[in-house]
Amino acid sequence: MAASTYLLLVAFLALLTSQAIASDPSPLQDFCVADKHSPVNVNGFVCKDPMTVNADDFFKAAKLDQPRDTTKSKVGSNVTLINVMQLPGLNTLGISLARIDYAPLGQNPPHTHPRATEILTVLEGTLYVGFVTSNQADNTNKLFSKVLNKGDVFVFP
Ligand SMILES: *[C@@H]1O[C@H](CO)[C@@H](O)[C@H](O)[C@H]1NC(C)=O
Repeated sequence: MAASTYLLLVAFLALLTSQAIASDPSPLQDFCVADKHSPVNVNGFVCKDPMTVNADDFFKAAKLDQPRDTTKSKVGSNVTLINVMQLPGLNTLGISLARIDYAPLGQNPPHTHPRATEILTVLEGTLYVGFVTSNQADNTNKLFSKVLNKGDVFVFP
């Protein structure tokens, strides 16, 4: 084999091997409804026996259409969470939902979302939202903020 052909082959192989083909493994089961009464301790909830799962495990009459009372809150907001504690069918799915009601000038104090992304929409009123970066190349913390109106959407990476 000529040296140039050999070099070309090596370069081609290097190109091939540098292309990683990776993905998350497919889930092993369609769902893992939380068994909150299991004595087994794991990071999360173990799965309820799939044969005993029913539609109620995926349902919550949460009345999210109803406004919440914001008068008792010191920060002027009331968060209604729908996570695995309220809806066992959410176990392992990596998704949850919240309704937040704000009093005029109310707020949701600064907080973090380790390894989680939030997307938000405004159903009524106007909301000032934003997030601050923590890992800018120039060691600064940059604020990304917007004033949202009814129907607007904002994502918090
Ligand atoms: C949130 O609203 C609900 C329903 O209006 C009320 O029962 C609850 O006390 C409120 N929570 C706070 C922290 O104000």
